[in-house]
Amino acid sequence: MRLWLRGLVLQALRNFRGVCGVHGPPPPVPAPQIMATWEAINLGKKPVPEYFNFAHDVLDVWSQLEKDGHRPLNPAFWWVDGTGAEVKWSFEELGEQSRKAANVLGGACGLQPGDRMMLVLPRLPEWWLISVACMRTGVVMIPGVTQLTEKDLKYRLQISRAKSIITTNSLAPHVDAISADCPSLQTKLLVSDSSRPGWMNFKELLREASTGHNCVRTKSRDTLAIYFTSGTTGNPKMVEHSQSSYGLGFVASGRRWVALTESDIFWNTTDTGWVKAAWTLFSAWANGACIFVHELPQVGAKVILNTLTKFPVTTLCCVPTIFRLLVQEDLTRYSFQSLRHCLTGGEALNPDVREKWKSQTGLELHEGYGQSETVLICANLRGMMIKSGSMGKASPPYDVQIVDDEGKVLPPGEEGSVGVRVRPTRPFCFFNCYLHWGLNSGPHAC
Ligand SMILES: *[C@@H]1O[C@H](CO)[C@@H](O)[C@H](O)[C@H]1NC(C)=O
Repeated sequence: MRLWLRGLVLQALRNFRGVCGVHGPPPPVPAPQIMATWEAINLGKKPVPEYFNFAHDVLDVWSQLEKDGHRPLNPAFWWVDGTGAEVKWSFEELGEQSRKAANVLGGACGLQPGDRMMLVLPRLPEWWLISVACMRTGVVMIPGVTQLTEKDLKYRLQISRAKSIITTNSLAPHVDAISADCPSLQTKLLVSDSSRPGWMNFKELLREASTGHNCVRTKSRDTLAIYFTSGTTGNPKMVEHSQSSYGLGFVASGRRWVALTESDIFWNTTDTGWVKAAWTLFSAWANGACIFVHELPQVGAKVILNTLTKFPVTTLCCVPTIFRLLVQEDLTRYSFQSLRHCLTGGEALNPDVREKWKSQTGLELHEGYGQSETVLICANLRGMMIKSGSMGKASPPYDVQIVDDEGKVLPPGEEGSVGVRVRPTRPFCFFNCYLHWGLNSGPHAC
């Protein structure tokens, strides 16, 4: 029975023809086989494909499988605001909405492949639409947190030469105050129900946009995103990621650390602006899982616990600080609908918090660590025996060792730095380079 079903799915994949490009693009990497593709690349049996586009090669394939009835009835995206408003998209609807958004970027905004767009939005559905629209148009996204000051904005817009910015009313005045100093900035897009002089209204444009769009053909090495990451000294550096570094890079950690399948509903409470917000997008959608978002105007323990009671979230990720707040509540008063897997990262997890969470909910807390230059470097994977206070083991394809200041591998038990081997083979899910880093080209500079 199972074999037969699998045969059917494969058949469906064979019959699927991409909608992207007029001159017959190569067949897409089918989403359910993307794990196999990842494995083959990891084992050196296959090169990274020359062309890769997450929207075309993954999202549109899920869409087709969904249409053909080969996916559980799990949405792709589910957003709530806590006061009753809800947005729920299937992969098909996500496809349609993001194609409309792509037409806004390529049409009204006049953006071309390779142009850069700053994306500074709170947890709103538009964040995910724009992210996918950037993939469809080849526009490079530069995510930023909504707490950016005028000075931060100016620095980022100037050095990245972003042509466009999309944000909400709260940040728009700050952008206006510095626009004159940012000659590359040509279009400003507002996500709002009201209008603002000098700004285009994204919601209005989206409503009128057509749903027909041909996804650009991107090479795996083409730029997907630029992240500003604060180094130890000086101004934040620009980290450039490729279409495949994240798009393929998160397949395995999404499956083994976040433990996602097509039936899961994954809620990551962390802010969309943080560099690593894309982690959720790629790990969830590569594995066909649903991304759940709560707008969370204020992040509070009760809101989170009530949401887990009310909605069938299966997988939860919060920073350790939030888990610390959660375990201070009387957790026996809540009965979570579907929660089965919990994750944390971004700060060190206090063993005490993990133990309290586990004893009160019966659920383990799986810590993970990575940087904006990489995907997941090490983690406590699903099913792994967890040592108290340990952030886990090396996550393939990385060779991770504890090294001294000269990069020499240290014996077990000694303190040092986490080192990731990049020679002789640079891991395939690694950032492209640092852009404009310092005056001279440092290591990994473009
Ligand atoms: C949740 O999001 C944060 C940042 O937005 C990221 O650092 C973290 O890795 C994500 N968690 C998972 C499990 O993807």
